[in-house]
Amino acid sequence: MPDHFLPDGLTRTDGTLHIESIPLTQVAQEYGTPCYVYSAAAIRNAYREFVEAFAALDPLICYAVKANGNLSILHLLSQQGSGFDIVSGGELSRVLAAGGSADKVVFSGVGKSAAEMAQALQAGVHCFNVESAAELRRLSQVASHLGLRAPVSLRVNPDVDPGTHPYIATGLKESKFGVAYADAFALYEEAARLPGLDVAGIDCHIGSQITDLAPFVAALEKILDLANRLRNAGIPLRHLDLGGGVGIRYRDETPIVLADYARAIAERLQGSGLRLLLEPGRRIIGNAGLLLTRVEYLKLSSDHRFAIVDAAMNDLIRPSLYEAWHEIVPVSERASPAALLDVVGPVCETGDILGRARSLAVAEGDLLAILSAGAYGASMGSNYNARPRPAEILVDGQSTRLIRRREAVEELYRNEWPPA
Ligand code: LLP
Repeated sequence: MPDHFLPDGLTRTDGTLHIESIPLTQVAQEYGTPCYVYSAAAIRNAYREFVEAFAALDPLICYAVKANGNLSILHLLSQQGSGFDIVSGGELSRVLAAGGSADKVVFSGVGKSAAEMAQALQAGVHCFNVESAAELRRLSQVASHLGLRAPVSLRVNPDVDPGTHPYIATGLKESKFGVAYADAFALYEEAARLPGLDVAGIDCHIGSQITDLAPFVAALEKILDLANRLRNAGIPLRHLDLGGGVGIRYRDETPIVLADYARAIAERLQGSGLRLLLEPGRRIIGNAGLLLTRVEYLKLSSDHRFAIVDAAMNDLIRPSLYEAWHEIVPVSERASPAALLDVVGPVCETGDILGRARSLAVAEGDLLAILSAGAYGASMGSNYNARPRPAEILVDGQSTRLIRRREAVEELYRNEWPPA
């Protein structure tokens, strides 16, 4: 059966799925399953696509670390010139440990602690994306105390509907993110007066996995209008950050063409003097990674047919959490006819489903690749059911490199003690 869709970096040669030039059978043999496997070329290509599409605007591209914060992936992107969007002191530490530069880091998130603010100020981040009046005041205090001034932008909530899953829509009025559009002007006036702040920019992020240009344009127009009013009021900004959110193909979506997005922005930013910042996560890493898993059992009853695999919802929670679709393909093709199966993991939850009603020709022991799992896969993994988190492997041309070793079970309870 021909594959429905294979992301960049994957090919099927002589019936076997390859990532770059490496057969996935070899990866499984060498590193075991389940494991995440990434294509370095696909990551570089996705990053270059942004650089090339937006070349005329020379934006600062801040890869969203939450999508996948593996040090080797951050390092690879930093070598390409990428900056980073972080949401915690932990993510800042990851970026620095990976060799990223703090002056290309933007710090987002609704709940920054004073300690995280101090850490980021001392590291010298590019900007804080501030999400409330209370946070703005605290940031000024923390910076003043350190004798520093914090570069800030307000994350303004433009109240546009990105048309995506409600759990990942963040720019609506009722969302916890950002400051209300109607309150933003007054808050900028306050920011300009606060001693510990340097008003640098404006920011929004309306949601994730967006496949339509219109909500991005609507958001841009609203925050650009605000930036213009601020300039006229004597509060000029240096940058405009449009956040992330550009969607990818998982199944049959038609993703936004980046050149169209760039053109829509360029037309509107022209003459504003504002530098563009972007925070893409999924679009860079989503299709560059897969979760490799082995079929443990086929459970074929008269009621239902299951392929029970060795990966589970703790490794990839997106299908359980958002009913997200990930294409599942056999690593080695079989001649036998395909049957409809639910692909499920060993975790003790009815919701531990990786793919529902998939048409697959598989036998016990076969390898399956769960595609488009590079973003919000490993980074949202947990140890539920005392399951060690999987190994991660980066393939680059002829080479495969272990970039996170499989967790050992003892590591799961090394911070716990039985009673003495
Ligand atoms: N910037 C900010 C402030 C964000 O909150 C996010 C994602 C991004 C950038 C990157 O968005 P991206 O380009 O990756 O869409 N776990 C969900 C997605 C949550 C996204 C959270 N924020 C999922 O698996 O679909």
